[in-house]
Amino acid sequence: MNHRTSSPEAINEIFRQFRDRGHRAYGEDVTEEQHALQCAALAQRQGEEPAVIAACLLHDFGHLLHDLGEDIADRGVDARHEHVGANRLSAWFGSAVVEPIRLHAASKRYLCWKDPGYYAGLSGASQQSLALQGGVMTDQEAHAFEANPHFDRAVRVRRYDDQGKDPEMVTPRLEEYRGLLESLLIH
Ligand SMILES: [Fe+2]
Repeated sequence: MNHRTSSPEAINEIFRQFRDRGHRAYGEDVTEEQHALQCAALAQRQGEEPAVIAACLLHDFGHLLHDLGEDIADRGVDARHEHVGANRLSAWFGSAVVEPIRLHAASKRYLCWKDPGYYAGLSGASQQSLALQGGVMTDQEAHAFEANPHFDRAVRVRRYDDQGKDPEMVTPRLEEYRGLLESLLIH
């Protein structure tokens, strides 16, 4: 599917989704928009490249595109939001933004394989959804994942994702990322 749109339309659609659905509960006492902004701000503080900051901001965009409810993991449903979001965003952004988004659930499965302490540090909701997403990677899956050209970025995005769940955190507003997102649009 290839339906590229000009810069303002793409960004406006993204912002519209946040406006209409960003108030939804991400879980863990933050909304979808707060979680997205926190992940992006954490990446920014670490001096990450723009593509990683954008991937952090948009990694759960797929959550804003479905109407399956806010408690789907509780109901044992995996909406495969990482693919839904990545597929939509691939009309507008290149692989450095899109692939870490597509891989952010896989990155969790990988980190559970790589680091025995990682699973214990995950939030309850992330632990719960792990099983739905395929569980801990096998050795074979993990080695194949490490060979993915987007492996490194994807794991970094995942680390910010895991941290962006602080109800008290103060972040820049969504509007402040408009220029960054526009600079990454493919034309
Ligand atoms: Fe997330």
